[in-house]
Amino acid sequence: MRYKKLLVTGGAGFIGSAFIRYGLSRLPCESLTNLDLLTYAADPASLQAVEKDPRYLFVQGDICDEDLVERLCISHQIDAIVHFAAETHVDRSILEPTTFLYANVAGTVALLEVVRRHPRIHFHHVSTDEVYGSLEKGHFSETSPYRPNSPYAASKAAADHFVRAYAHTYGLSTTLSHCSNNYGPYQNREKLIPLMISRCLAKEPLPVYGSGLNVRDWLYVDDHAEALWMILEQGRRGEVYDIGGECERQNLELLGALISLLAAATQESEESYRALLAFVPDRPGHDLRYAIDCAKIQKELGWRPRHSFAEGLRKTVDWYMHARV
Ligand SMILES: NC(=O)c1ccc[n+]([C@@H]2O[C@H](COP(=O)([O-])OP(=O)(O)OC[C@H]3O[C@@H](n4cnc5c(N)ncnc54)[C@H](O)[C@@H]3O)[C@@H](O)[C@H]2O)c1
Repeated sequence: MRYKKLLVTGGAGFIGSAFIRYGLSRLPCESLTNLDLLTYAADPASLQAVEKDPRYLFVQGDICDEDLVERLCISHQIDAIVHFAAETHVDRSILEPTTFLYANVAGTVALLEVVRRHPRIHFHHVSTDEVYGSLEKGHFSETSPYRPNSPYAASKAAADHFVRAYAHTYGLSTTLSHCSNNYGPYQNREKLIPLMISRCLAKEPLPVYGSGLNVRDWLYVDDHAEALWMILEQGRRGEVYDIGGECERQNLELLGALISLLAAATQESEESYRALLAFVPDRPGHDLRYAIDCAKIQKELGWRPRHSFAEGLRKTVDWYMHARV
């Protein structure tokens, strides 16, 4: 492997934990240290499968704590940092933007400062398609201009710019990826798909922002994890890779698919679930549509999503109904 001793930040979160489970179960990395503050968004149960792996170490701490990050890099001879840690919920960013400034921007800069002092360490920054803003037609690609619309997207965009600037100014080895909406096991219940599943099962209203016509591109989380490992292994240093599921769905379409799966699984009628749909005032500044052109990662690295939307959603519903502890 190109990098053998990894420091993963935010690895107790939804995507970071999928990345760790994927890597430790399939790849011969020598050690993987997971630095996570364990905020409300973390789910330690997502890491039960790897807890006993002798290559795995969990450290509770803040990415803004440069001394801690540097000590970990030195004592574990880290050769790559994969940076997931962030505040990630758009609604929360509207209520408390400065929390996002601290975790997402200051946190990323603190990590980059450590890499500046130890430039043999490669830095991969996990970012989002939301930095590009909203689309009417066409697709975002690696060369699209940045037009973040929410405080969350702005904080991720700012972090991206710092990664680029540190690479350019100090000659650091970096890669950066923008991914579309992920779904799958262990996602926090405040996010759309788990929220709707748990509300359907509890027969509670299903809050739909605005018209419900907002479009997102959906990717099963393990496919994102695989893309990130491929970037680490084969990606060109200094490059940006956009990752998407080529699976655009309006929110109402997505809810329809979820309702069908849940109705079949629970023997309830689809109508009884549809009756729970409750349109609520739109999120301020709500982006209408995101869509990603992922031709670059497909062509350069040979990555493709392995899960169709139908299969990924079925696995997700099944997991929330039966495996969730
Ligand atoms: N969820 C998506 O659909 C999606 C899509 C594209 C990109 N991303 C990006 O992927 C990354 C991971 O997203 P997620 O959905 O897994 O997030 P998440 O909210 O599920 O998990 C975030 C994790 O970061 C940790 N964390 C937060 N602040 C920290 C700090 N200061 N120090 C150390 N740890 C801290 C939390 O404890 C949590 O475990 C984020 O950078 C996000 O912007 C997410």
